Amino acid sequence: MTGTAGARPAPPTPFELVARLADVPEGGLLGVVKQDGDRVCLVNLGGTIYAVSNTCTHQEFPMSDGVLLPDGCLECAWHGAMFDCRTGAVKRFPATEPLPVYEVMVEGEDIYVGRRTS
Ligand code: FES
Repeated sequence: MTGTAGARPAPPTPFELVARLADVPEGGLLGVVKQDGDRVCLVNLGGTIYAVSNTCTHQEFPMSDGVLLPDGCLECAWHGAMFDCRTGAVKRFPATEPLPVYEVMVEGEDIYVGRRTS
């Protein structure tokens, strides 16, 4: 036996550790900053973690200061724009551009964010 059984594989790059699950309780939002400076909003919708840009596409308010609705809409606290936290799609004016979305990986209690996918 070559001795790797039970070892946790290191996550493939470019994923980076940004938070712990305990930091984002169900229904919660958390703003984090990636090493490249991208501001990301982590979202816990029903126990699944999603990651979108933390910058509202309307006037750049932090999305992590907003509210997550039970249907997965993320409401900006400043002027009330809404986005789907899973896809970034605009759900309500005044925003007209979708939120960028990022890859997410959860390993144990650790939350990793990867590349921007949209
Ligand atoms: S800054 Fe988000 S709705 Fe205006």
